[in-house]
Amino acid sequence: MQEIKFYNGENIPLELHKVRVVQKLHLVPIERRLEALEEGGFNTFRLNTKDVFLDMLTDSGTNAMSDNQMAAMMQADDAYAGSQSFYRLKKAVEDVLGKKHYLPVHQGRAAENILSKAYIKQGSLIPMNYHFTTTLAHITECGGRIVELLYDEGYVMNSDHPFKGNMNIEKLEENIIRHGSKNVPFIRMEASTNLIGGQPFSIQNLRDVRAIADKYNIRLVLDASLLGENAYLVKLREEEFNETSMADILKTMTELADIVYFSARKLSSSRGGGICTNSEVIYKELEALVPLYEGFLTYGGISVREIESMAVGLYETLDETMICQSPDFIRYLVDELDKNGVPMLKPAGVLGAHVNAMELCSHIPQTQYPAGSLAAALFLISGIRGMERGSVSNQRDEYGNETYADMELVRLAVPRRVFTLSQIKYVIDRVTWLNDNRELIGGLKFVYEPPVLRFFMGGLEPVNDWPQRLISKFKEDFGESL
Ligand code: F0G
Repeated sequence: MQEIKFYNGENIPLELHKVRVVQKLHLVPIERRLEALEEGGFNTFRLNTKDVFLDMLTDSGTNAMSDNQMAAMMQADDAYAGSQSFYRLKKAVEDVLGKKHYLPVHQGRAAENILSKAYIKQGSLIPMNYHFTTTLAHITECGGRIVELLYDEGYVMNSDHPFKGNMNIEKLEENIIRHGSKNVPFIRMEASTNLIGGQPFSIQNLRDVRAIADKYNIRLVLDASLLGENAYLVKLREEEFNETSMADILKTMTELADIVYFSARKLSSSRGGGICTNSEVIYKELEALVPLYEGFLTYGGISVREIESMAVGLYETLDETMICQSPDFIRYLVDELDKNGVPMLKPAGVLGAHVNAMELCSHIPQTQYPAGSLAAALFLISGIRGMERGSVSNQRDEYGNETYADMELVRLAVPRRVFTLSQIKYVIDRVTWLNDNRELIGGLKFVYEPPVLRFFMGGLEPVNDWPQRLISKFKEDFGESL
């Protein structure tokens, strides 16, 4: 956190970077935004960014790159095998994550595919703090099952618990005993647990999980896609680490895991991904799958330019003035919306601010997707594209029944160093207006539902003419303003 005092007493997150390359944005009229929603099946994944003003869908592949990352791309070494770029990245992985073996993959879910193919059999059980959509899909594809083991406070929407991503250690041990350790190929811990609002776990909790993994001789896998931010919150919130450097916090975390995998679209502000380990045995178990699914072992489906930017981006993760930017903007966004009475998931986590759609749209039943409806309504009245993280993002159970999400959230992602504070103020203004007019938002129903990961390409439509009513009220209050 950058403690910069303002003379007027204000406490705002000050940008510690300057903008050197810009991209023009378009704020199209509300009528066009409605057409765009109709064309995109009321699904924000299916919008074209020419219609989007502030793209808060995700931080994946959208974090701003640094001048040094761009410069490094120029020295990329094009080679199918043995590229020098790969060896620079391998060194960065070892320096930053402390693992000497590195397997490149084209993105995070590719790592999940390889780990699932290597270790999961019919009947395997994978305990985890909480699932991520792609993780669950890969595990179930291979015949495995997951069990989510958060403590109860992980599910509390309005909380001040610093580590809602912690794993319940007693339940972990119980599950291993009940299912037999031989049926548990690995335990998965997700840094900054994405789907429950970007909530971190503590290093103490990770140590406790490690102890159980050792006791039952089970591999511990760390999903490090959002590791930098989890480490930053450890520094702020876990007393033992208040004075520890980011480099040491990161290494302390990765040292506790046998396997670390990540999406470099998040960690390192680039593209690509990877799996790393210090175990020769694990390395050998996974090695052959990389050329099969990804590409040769020295590029893994990633362009060499991205490999160079990933290497630099990994080192930059250690810079607190860089890694604090997104979480500090998110905290500001959450605090201000909270003051304005908007129901927010608290405490503020990482990746984005999360609006509690279950409460904001309490008049919309879960069968009509309150979070999907809120995401669509917000785009309509503002051009802000958030992401539904609720029942639309859930998959149906094995019998084809809907499974309703524990939380109905709209995630407003804040990619690193992308937005200015006045844009964040626009978000606060429009979300507050929508909250004040919440009764005008209506539900959605599916008209096209893909069988896997339905939220990406699914199509929905409003259950009645609520978008028109929302447009009328918008015009009444904002006149001709976009
Ligand atoms: N694990 C976590 C914790 C993630 O957040 C993601 C992606 C993945 C794995 C998969 O990585 O996209 O590179 O294949 N999260 C993105 C998001 C998609 O928007 O939150 P990927």
